[in-house]
Amino acid sequence: MGGILPATVVVGGFFGDEGKGKVVAYLALKKRVSLAVRCGAINAGHTVVYRGRTWKLRSVPSAFVNPSTELGIAAGALVKVDLLLREIEETGSAGRVCVDSMAGIIEDHHVERERSSEHLAKTVGSTLQGVGEAMVDRVRRVLKLARDVEALRGLLCNISERANTYIDEGREVLIEGTQGTFLSLFHGTYPYVTSRDTTASAFLSEVGIGPRKVREVIVVFKSYVTRVGPGPLRGELPIDEAVKLGWVEYGTVTGRPRRVAPFDVELARRAVVLNSATGAAITKLDVLFPEVRGVRDPAKIPSKVRRWVDEVEGALKVPVIMLGTGEEVEDTVYLGEQE
Ligand code: IMP
Repeated sequence: MGGILPATVVVGGFFGDEGKGKVVAYLALKKRVSLAVRCGAINAGHTVVYRGRTWKLRSVPSAFVNPSTELGIAAGALVKVDLLLREIEETGSAGRVCVDSMAGIIEDHHVERERSSEHLAKTVGSTLQGVGEAMVDRVRRVLKLARDVEALRGLLCNISERANTYIDEGREVLIEGTQGTFLSLFHGTYPYVTSRDTTASAFLSEVGIGPRKVREVIVVFKSYVTRVGPGPLRGELPIDEAVKLGWVEYGTVTGRPRRVAPFDVELARRAVVLNSATGAAITKLDVLFPEVRGVRDPAKIPSKVRRWVDEVEGALKVPVIMLGTGEEVEDTVYLGEQE
């Protein structure tokens, strides 16, 4: 292993829905990633808009847009077999997806159990996809794993071994985290959180690589904050004001309207610390500043927008390396180091 380590981890900096799918897809193309590994579970929907087509992915890594990237599902991830197989087909990624034999399987009874829990539905505001109940079964050591499923037989591999080997060979490995830092079971706004830790260290653990093999930790923020379901949201705007600003969105998995608040610098700074971020990406800058829509050249960022980004960068104390200026993966301004 040389001085420069190739693994990059992408995590959400707020409450999920920051646009990690787009950031991961962009990086997969830009960095010629050899292996991308999706963590988390199917409650997280990652949207990718690439060359006029839209995918809403709940299992397959968003890096699929690069046809030479191998796609992995982490040991710590949870999949639903039918959903995974359908996404492999929809993304045309058959032949390059491998599922760690230790990945967990969500079954219908997990979904039914969540649906019958008033606590999850009403208090926590769960997406009710069976994820938390599957985690419970994993802890009880009764969960079915990928290695137990006939339909997955041809897809099984050891992702940890593959990721470590590639990293040692100097090949780019990208880890796709899910949800957001403040939905973390440990560091989030408990009990209004998801059923796993969602910080960078947890995703490394899900894949099975150690912290010393990471070069970059990129925390993704949106230019405003959204939250699906209950729990604290500082600076929350009334819905009519949010609609006027064009900030109202609908959940990828649930279709529920998202609550909104302006960009929260203090929360973002905490996310940088919790994840040991080396850099930040800010998505949907065009929603905050319509004049930046579709800009891809750093020289074309209007000075007012540049000042806002500089201010955020100063407060976060890490470089802002990417700006999202539209839905398309390629509607991105890359400000990081050029290879
Ligand atoms: P659960 O993880 O589905 O049980 O949901 C627990 C909480 O996390 C709820 O407030 C959900 O809305 C939120 N949540 C879970 N996954 C996501 C996600 O991918 N994006 C945004 N919110 C999520």
